[in-house]
Amino acid sequence: MTETALATATYAPSEATRKHAHVDAATYDKMYAASINDPDGFWSEQAQRVDWIKPFTKVKDVNFDLGNVHIKWFEDGTLNVAANCVDRHLATRGDQTAIIWEPDDPKDAARHITYKELHGQVGKMANVLKAMGVKKGDRVVIYLPMIPEAAYAMLACARIGAIHSVVFAGFSPDALGARVTGCDARVVITADTAPRGGRATKLKDNVNQALRHDLNDVKCLVVRRTGDQIAWRDGLDFWYHEEADKVSSDCPPEEMNAEDPLFILYTSGSTGQPKGVVHTTGGYLVYAALTHQTTFDYHEGDVYWCGADVGWVTGHTYILYGPLANGATTLMFEGVPTYPDASRFWQVIDKHGVNQFYTAPTALRALMGQGDEFVTQTSRKSLRILGTVGEPINPEAWNWYYKVVGDSRCPIVDTWWQTETGGHMMTPLPGAHALKPGAAQKPFFGVKPVVLDPTSGQIIEGNGVEGVLAIADSWPGQMRTVWGDHDRFEKTYFSDYKGYYFSGDGCRRDEDGDYWITGRVDDVINVSGHRMGTAEVESALVAHAKVAEAAVVGYPHDIKGQGIYCYVTLMHGETPSEELRKELRNWVRSEIGPIASPDVIQWAPGLPKTRSGKIMRRILRKIAENDFGALGDTSTLADPSVVDDLIANRK
Ligand code: WTA
Repeated sequence: MTETALATATYAPSEATRKHAHVDAATYDKMYAASINDPDGFWSEQAQRVDWIKPFTKVKDVNFDLGNVHIKWFEDGTLNVAANCVDRHLATRGDQTAIIWEPDDPKDAARHITYKELHGQVGKMANVLKAMGVKKGDRVVIYLPMIPEAAYAMLACARIGAIHSVVFAGFSPDALGARVTGCDARVVITADTAPRGGRATKLKDNVNQALRHDLNDVKCLVVRRTGDQIAWRDGLDFWYHEEADKVSSDCPPEEMNAEDPLFILYTSGSTGQPKGVVHTTGGYLVYAALTHQTTFDYHEGDVYWCGADVGWVTGHTYILYGPLANGATTLMFEGVPTYPDASRFWQVIDKHGVNQFYTAPTALRALMGQGDEFVTQTSRKSLRILGTVGEPINPEAWNWYYKVVGDSRCPIVDTWWQTETGGHMMTPLPGAHALKPGAAQKPFFGVKPVVLDPTSGQIIEGNGVEGVLAIADSWPGQMRTVWGDHDRFEKTYFSDYKGYYFSGDGCRRDEDGDYWITGRVDDVINVSGHRMGTAEVESALVAHAKVAEAAVVGYPHDIKGQGIYCYVTLMHGETPSEELRKELRNWVRSEIGPIASPDVIQWAPGLPKTRSGKIMRRILRKIAENDFGALGDTSTLADPSVVDDLIANRK
């Protein structure tokens, strides 16, 4: 089939899928209508899926008006997230596996951690943190690989009311330091070394580097993963296993208000440094649990696997909080899809009998290129539902996932959401909707999407339309603020289009009323499903002594979705060379992390600027895309000849 034919095919739920599902088409319509017509009634009922210490009496208090944005859900209720994810399951499923841990090296033993064991481990970690002086409301940075201790640490924070901020273990020391400073954390939890794909990252060394200078009094709790030699800071560093021996595993959960912060997660925006997205306790948990159950059609006893990293929001909501709130068995994978070979995902699925599998299109595209045998040599009979997240999926990759991985048996849920939204915002539901490859399709319960005209800001009604995507009302999983900067929160999300939450994405609503995400409309790019601000890469580049100026744009990349294209103007007297190109690439890796590694660096003697000095990124994007016919009007440039030079020297 051609890409167009693939894109127009639809796949209705099979009889078996529909019958098994919690939500079929009629139920979706009914529940969606109820969630929009009577949000208080709908969410008050849904909130009963979590255990409250003190029940709430007020469901929702929300205002999206600039200058007075506030978002509160269940505001007078109290609860504890760890008690909901662990303790309340003990009576009925204490001996059930809560977490399956699959190590990087398949020759090492996998681990099965029961709810009972999880309870003990979380209690211990919580008491260790307390002994280190961590109190309710304090921030704890977690910089761990995908090991069970990452889950213990997050839940331990939730148990004592500390606010965790997980930093992806692939971030550099500088990026880590900025996040520790940003939320003023006094404790960092890390491991000696992180094995991944047969390679090792020395996490503790990174922490040591991050905590130099003004952070040199920040304590560090170190999990022993490999036993590698590490540099120790006496009086500040503590081995987790030694501290755990000194405390009991009994730690009563703290009573938290529904609106107390649960976590901060730094994410990239179109301007400035990454911002600390704040999620709170009650609404987030209700939304995580409901979306996890509904989107993945999770049933009691299923083995569920989300292949993300806990360093991203997907790992928070769909490895940890959603599944555990539902009493699921959730799989945590330390490794990568291509180690020891490109069959690893499918082998893990067979090994543990995985029923639902959730990953990013970039991984699928990479695996697709390795050939079908890596897939077809495995059974995958246990699979029922497949999911994708993080970036638009092209029809070819969708088709491969559906036919080769899922044997044309398993519905694919293409879930559109963001760090800011806490959980799924648009997705087809497996038992309810005829799938369209590449479409995020339907709003989740309580989500009111609107398509806006980017220029006038007016709502575009009807079907067969395209514009920017905004949301007209709040949902319980919505972020509440930017840590320490509510003003930035309002400006970023509520100022461009008055009265709406602006997503930063563009979208199309097709003739049937189904939604298709068309990608970011701001200066955020999506590289291998990792979200990155072009401004961050630019500021890393200009921090190099030989760089005078830099402009960074995304361009289409077969595997990564988008690649990082950098235009670099060198300081006067510096000469471009291959070595310098390599040096700059390494520089960005050390400033931000390997995920920000530039794909292309083009030397630019000048950048296209308006007479007022503003860089015309539109033109740079077109050149990077090799689309010279659509450069548009260049007559407003201060020096139009720079464009000819950039085209002539395009990489
Ligand atoms: C993009 C990840 C198309 C989108 C959960 C969004 C998607 C950004 C999809 C958020 C999807 C996420 N289809 N695009 N199914 N899911 N995106 O904060 O541009 O890391 O704004 O959250 O990823 O990335 P974030």
